[in-house]
Amino acid sequence: MKGIILAGGYGSRLQPITLAVSKQLLPVNDKPLIYYPVSALMLADIRDILIIALPEDIPQLHRLLGDGSHLGISLTYAEQPVPNGLAQAFITGADHIGDESVALVLGDNIFHGNGFYDLLLQHRQNLEGCVLFGYPVTDPERYGVGEVDESGRLVSLEEKPEKPRSNLAITGLYLYDNDVVEIARQVRPSARGELEITDVNRTYLAADRARLVTFGRGFAWLDAGTPQSLLQAGHYVQTLEDRQGVRIACLEEVALRMGFIDADACHRLGAKLSRSGYGEYVMAVASELGA
Ligand code: DAU
Repeated sequence: MKGIILAGGYGSRLQPITLAVSKQLLPVNDKPLIYYPVSALMLADIRDILIIALPEDIPQLHRLLGDGSHLGISLTYAEQPVPNGLAQAFITGADHIGDESVALVLGDNIFHGNGFYDLLLQHRQNLEGCVLFGYPVTDPERYGVGEVDESGRLVSLEEKPEKPRSNLAITGLYLYDNDVVEIARQVRPSARGELEITDVNRTYLAADRARLVTFGRGFAWLDAGTPQSLLQAGHYVQTLEDRQGVRIACLEEVALRMGFIDADACHRLGAKLSRSGYGEYVMAVASELGA
């Protein structure tokens, strides 16, 4: 399975902060926002990842993450000059996807909770059609919304409905079989002029090939698209990290735990950042796991 991170868009709801800096490079507590979606894909054991972003943001993203080889993964970059919709990711990323299945994650989405790793691995195996992940929210009208029947079967999908039929938001993490490329090519722009991912998902639903997996209580899904939600995400991460002494979405640690790099390599990565608490943590994890 290939991975795509969609890290484009103008970050308009965060302006003026995002006038000179990509949203995905803004800090969420101790690390840039994009570390969170990268770690989500790595935890799904996806090692070949395409990052799609505005042309002007790619040099900084590359400066931060490089080609991924230090983490035992491959990172490549593609330009999306104008944010024409989430479904464009599959057209821009068609060569990268090739004949494989693909996981898409939005660059401003943060997932955290017990069992996340198992859930991803479980659903990427035997993938048939598409798997969407739902999360109960108090403001579903801001999102794609999924409606399920009594047996938990997905029956409808709507994008930002005025009157949502349920409180289940569709999160920014999607798993697809290879048909997604062709389906995305057939999608026509919506009233707001975008290639909507909800239209892709509806095509799967119409063919009875879409499944909705709901994240349970105790699981956190955050998006960081506004000043409030960015700050809330930072507080959430800070509270957990300070209280538990572990770090969320520490890419070097994830690479080590997934077996992508060894403890010596991990320690060297930490040593490069040794004047920060983050670097100290990476070195400590490497020493502990390498002992
Ligand atoms: O966060 C989950 C929601 O994401 C879903 O529930 C919705 O169904 C889905 O449409 C999307 O809604 P948003 O209103 O959050 O989409 P937005 O246009 O803000 O884009 C989400 C992220 O993707 C944002 O960080 C910018 C980036 N993006 C967006 C577009 C339209 C791109 O990189 N390229 C694009 O063309």
